[in-house]
Amino acid sequence: MKVLVVGGGGREHAICTALSKSNKVSELYCAPGNGGISTIATCVPIKATDIDGITAYCTENAIDFVMVAPDDPLALGMVNKLTEAGIRAFGPTAEAARIESSKAFSKTLMNKYGIPTAKYCVFDNVNDAINFVEKQGAPIVIKADGLALGKGVIIAETVMEAKTAVIHMMENKAFGSSGDKIVIEEFMTGPEVTVLCFTDGKNIVPLPSSQDHKRAFDGDKGLNTGGMGAISPSPYYTEDIAQRCMDEIFRPTIDAMAKEGYPFKGVIYFGLMLTPNGPKVIEYNARFGDPETQAVLSLLDSDIMDIFEAVVDGTLDKISIRWKNKSACCVVMASGGYPQKYNTGCPISGLDAVPEDITVFHAGTKLENGQYLTSGGRVLGVTALGDDLNAAIARAYHGVGCISFDNAHYRKDIGRK
Ligand code: AMP
Ligand code: GLY
Repeated sequence: MKVLVVGGGGREHAICTALSKSNKVSELYCAPGNGGISTIATCVPIKATDIDGITAYCTENAIDFVMVAPDDPLALGMVNKLTEAGIRAFGPTAEAARIESSKAFSKTLMNKYGIPTAKYCVFDNVNDAINFVEKQGAPIVIKADGLALGKGVIIAETVMEAKTAVIHMMENKAFGSSGDKIVIEEFMTGPEVTVLCFTDGKNIVPLPSSQDHKRAFDGDKGLNTGGMGAISPSPYYTEDIAQRCMDEIFRPTIDAMAKEGYPFKGVIYFGLMLTPNGPKVIEYNARFGDPETQAVLSLLDSDIMDIFEAVVDGTLDKISIRWKNKSACCVVMASGGYPQKYNTGCPISGLDAVPEDITVFHAGTKLENGQYLTSGGRVLGVTALGDDLNAAIARAYHGVGCISFDNAHYRKDIGRK
């Protein structure tokens, strides 16, 4: 099969790595890909959001199967378009992807079907929002409705901070039209766990749990980022909690989407908080998370193409998926300054010195005349397995120690919570 992956970050490198091990994949393509991906797939210089460009490329080059990894092409309807063109595509339709692309949509769905989540109100008027904040008090959570690269969430410690956030989003348009509508939420507490699930719209199969580290600095300090590291599985996610999540959250969500007329096919991301009152949904994503996927897929012990086909064909109940009985840790090496201003074009050294059992997924690199250069905020995801979490963490940091580039920044406490 000729398979094309859409996207170009660490997550896509992890997906391409899994696909490159499949017996079913004869040719692997990635659009746009990156320096690391170019060593295992043919990189096609088309932007991930260029729906028409990618559809035309797939038609002209007889691509059999497309895996759409990032949120924006999904929200823009890339899977709808590819399917109309007769190309098998992995991922939700634009209608189903609203579970991520509109917080108002997902909160309304959870409310209607009794799926546990933080109490909330939706506002499209600044004064109403500010009155509500004054009435509720702090801490309180303010979220832009649309996609905001994971940065549209403010945890306000004081009423003043909450009011500033409302004005920032609604009047100053800090996230453009994503802030025309905002969601104001109850502040929840407890450990955070991510659970990705494969679903074909009817059947649902959870992957090993994981935990992201969203803040830029050690001790969960600094700005929110796309994610600075991940471990899998999460020590907090016991079998009892997993059963509750399946019964109270995963199954009801998939059934609700089908009932509403938007069956969800692909990978659904459950961002959960294990509160004193049970597990609750923080957010849904319509796709694999990054960097969680780099850790989670490293544990996969089955042919990923069998799973992708079963998701698209609606036959997930016909296959079994095996996972390695190990732990995984991914440490993100970022450009100093990320998630704000940072430099690119810095030579990366030491990649050859990384032992073979450690996998370095590339997130923001390019390959020029045989030299890898930094090309993004998140640069590498250094990923290792171990018999337990501590062993995986130690091994990943061993890998990090081999690699250097100007102004490299990474957290030293991944998995230590
Ligand atoms: P989100 O983009 O919705 O995942 O939010 C980013 C981060 O903000 C989450 O990973 C949580 O750490 C935090 N967060 C979001 N919503 C809440 C909430 N209602 N209560 C407490 N923390 C939250
Ligand atoms: N790691 C969080 C996300 O992919 O949205």
